Amino acid sequence: MSTNLGTIYLADNLEVLTGLASGSANLIYIDPPFNTGKVQQRTQIRTIGSEDGDRVGFKGRRYETIALGKRGFRDLFDDYLAFLEPRLAEAHRVLAPDGTLYFHVDYREVHYCKVLLDAIFGRECFLNEVIWAYDYGGRSKTRWPPKHDNILVYTKDPRRYTFNWDDIERIPYMAPGLVGPDKAARGKVPTDTWWHTIVPTHGSEKTGYPTQKPLGILKRIIGASSRKGDVVLDFFAGSGTTGAACLALGRRFVLVDNSPQALEAMARRFAGVAGIQWVGFDPGAHAGDVGPLAP
Ligand SMILES: C[S@@+](CC[C@H](N)C(=O)[O-])C[C@H]1O[C@@H](n2cnc3c(N)ncnc32)[C@H](O)[C@@H]1O
Repeated sequence: MSTNLGTIYLADNLEVLTGLASGSANLIYIDPPFNTGKVQQRTQIRTIGSEDGDRVGFKGRRYETIALGKRGFRDLFDDYLAFLEPRLAEAHRVLAPDGTLYFHVDYREVHYCKVLLDAIFGRECFLNEVIWAYDYGGRSKTRWPPKHDNILVYTKDPRRYTFNWDDIERIPYMAPGLVGPDKAARGKVPTDTWWHTIVPTHGSEKTGYPTQKPLGILKRIIGASSRKGDVVLDFFAGSGTTGAACLALGRRFVLVDNSPQALEAMARRFAGVAGIQWVGFDPGAHAGDVGPLAP
């Protein structure tokens, strides 16, 4: 009999979250898609009386419509935050008393999400804003080319949380000549700015899932903020990078995604791995597919 390494759900994450026990996840990492809420491009209008108007009102009077501008931008964030809010409130409930949330987000949305997370977790529980910087793709010549994502980190309790400083993989000093040879040889613990390549286009890590995040980023997060055997929850799981990092580091996982394509990507990625429970999805159809983690 194989031990349970993790559970993967094909479902809307709010449904799964509401069924999870309070305090049952030691670490939560999420990378929600932008623009999940329905964008309502409402055009605000004003009407003025006009014999040639396009609207007919009381007593057959005609009115002309004047467009005042689109409220799409405001609505987009209202809808996005309205989508996130109940999920983040559930995430807070499901997080263990000494647990940590990593919230991966685009630089255009991060400020709105920070305000929302401050309200749910409390400002005192904000631990870090990690900047993941990369160097890939086209470069604008009309502004500084944006080449980073933001990862907001919140703890449930600001005084008690897992942070395995000694286990963090060290990186080379930028100017090794400025520190002694011993320090230079040992390297340094990364700061809150992480230089890390995107998923290499032709490497074995690539699953083909469009928004796949690098395994190295997830391993750093999970290695620092959870212990062996802990449960890591990712309810916007995509290609299952969180699960792959958990398998590498000896953590258990709960993954949720509502897209069959994501589940197919995970079935390929975890093909040949025993001990995963699949809910609402049969990975059997993809059992023959060769995944990067297959033996
Ligand atoms: C940016 S991707 C995550 C990518 C992932 N971090 C990876 O490395 O592959 C976001 C995922 O959230 C999923 N998603 C969006 N809305 C969801 C919902 N309501 N419930 C569950 N999953 C959802 C999408 O299907 C998509 O796979």
